[in-house]
This record gives sequence, C-alpha cells and structure tokens, in this order.
Amino acid sequence: MKNRRSSKYLGELTFRDKTEISKLAEEFFDFGWDEDPKSGDGLRSVSDLHVSPLEWDLAYREGTPYWETGRPARELVRLVEEEKIPRGSALDIGCGTGANAVFLAEKGFDVTAVDISPTAIERARTRAALAGVNIHFVVDDVFQFIRSAPTPFDFLLDAGFYHYVRGQALSTYLDFLWRASRPGSYLLVLAGHAAETAEGAPPGVTEDDLRFELGRLFEFLEMRLVRFEGPFCPEGYLGWSCLLHRPLVRGFQR
Ligand SMILES: C[S@@+](CC[C@H](N)C(=O)[O-])C[C@H]1O[C@@H](n2cnc3c(N)ncnc32)[C@H](O)[C@@H]1O
Repeated sequence: MKNRRSSKYLGELTFRDKTEISKLAEEFFDFGWDEDPKSGDGLRSVSDLHVSPLEWDLAYREGTPYWETGRPARELVRLVEEEKIPRGSALDIGCGTGANAVFLAEKGFDVTAVDISPTAIERARTRAALAGVNIHFVVDDVFQFIRSAPTPFDFLLDAGFYHYVRGQALSTYLDFLWRASRPGSYLLVLAGHAAETAEGAPPGVTEDDLRFELGRLFEFLEMRLVRFEGPFCPEGYLGWSCLLHRPLVRGFQR
C-alpha cells in the first residue's frame, strides 16, 4: 500500500517489524506465485505486496479489522434484491469472515469464497454453519486459486480487494478477473473513494481509475457514490459501488 494511511488499515498491529513479519510469513504460508511473464507487474510472490498474508491474518487474529461489520454490504443486498445480479455461481474474492458469502448462499447463489487468511475463513465457516448454508471455502491466494478453479463464475464479488491490490498488481488482478469470468459475467466492486480523508479509511480510487482500469475488460452498468459502514466509523467511509458486466462478443455468428 503506497497510501500514507497504510499503518492504520489493518487496525493497531503491535507487531510490525517488517523483516520479522516477512520471515514468519514465509514459515507459515506457502502462497508464492511463479513469476508470470505476461502479467507485466513483475510480482514474484504475495510477499512482494505491502500487506503480507501474515499481516492480513493478524488483522483478524488481533480483533475486529476496520472493514468488518458482520453484515452483508448494503450495496450487495440492494443489487441482489433488485434482481440486478442474476443467480448462478459466485466467487467472493477475499471473502473475510463471510457475511457477503452467506448472504449470497441464502439467496440461492452457488458460492465459492476465497481468502488468504486462515483465521477469516475459520470464522466464515462458523458463520455459514450457523446460517445452515453450504459454501465452498478456500484458504488461498486468489491468484493461485484461479489457476485450478472450476471457472468461469457467473458473478464475481470484490468487496475491498481491488483497491488494495491495484497499486502493485493491477495486471495480475485484471488477468485474474479475465480467467474467473466469461462473457456475460457480472462483477461488483466496492472500493474506497480517493476523496475520503477520515482516519482508517480504505485506499481510495477515482472515477478515472475505475473507468480506465476495470473498463478495459468490463462495461459499467452502475457506478454509485456510497458510504461503507465500519465498526470504527459510524458515518461510514465514502466509497464506490460499481456493477459491471463482461460484454458478450458482438457480431459473432456460427
Ligand atoms: C479489506 S478485506 C475485505 C474482506 C471482505 N470482503 C469484507 O468485505 O469484509 C480484504 C480481504 O482480502 C483478503 N486477501 C488479501 N489478499 C488476498 C489474496 N491475495 N488472496 C485472497 N485473499 C486475500 C484479506 O485477508 C482480507 O480478508
């Protein structure tokens, strides 16, 4: 994360020595990527990202991260209830403790939910069990996961992942979206807004960022300014809700 507010994003970590964190991350996790010559962003492994797998996991182990509300995102609820997102297979990218995944499963989606944090997935499994829904949970780096996943998915949910990853791994992320979707798939991106200055706010993006980066692969069906609930920010953080659709190939005839 290049943003100056980065030390607040994961909550008040008491254990922030980068060298030691990287060493521990290597011991505890084995999510290394092979360098993808086509990706163009030169990433060799997830440990090249500013937020390591261990830091993500610590954010959950040490308490309630700033993004954690325990409830499905209001925008997701609205769009599903307005039937803007057709039921089908769904991939929750960086699902956290699973409130969105459980909501989708309750609404009849066939949900796969991936997160790099074992602690988050453990809590998500408990949430799903309590709700009595079946979800395919995976502890993995989504960029690794997608290489062997039963793709494509009809719906991709990105609640708070893109805005972290785009700064360092945009090409890898776009390649991932391409592999995970098919013409006709829907994508919901919930991301922070560049104008938000509140303490603890997520990384921000501008409308131009969204249109230039995501618009390469998807068409925008809706782009809204919203406020995201957070446990430490009752008025909510300013953010974007973008519903996108991967265009069908036009003019193709058998
Ligand atoms: C800001 S949180 C959002 C969590 C959840 N979507 C929500 O709305 O509550 C980002 C999530 O992405 C996960 N994550 C980060 N990098 C990941 C990766 N490479 N693969 C899978 N999950 C990742 C983190 O562990 C964290 O749970």
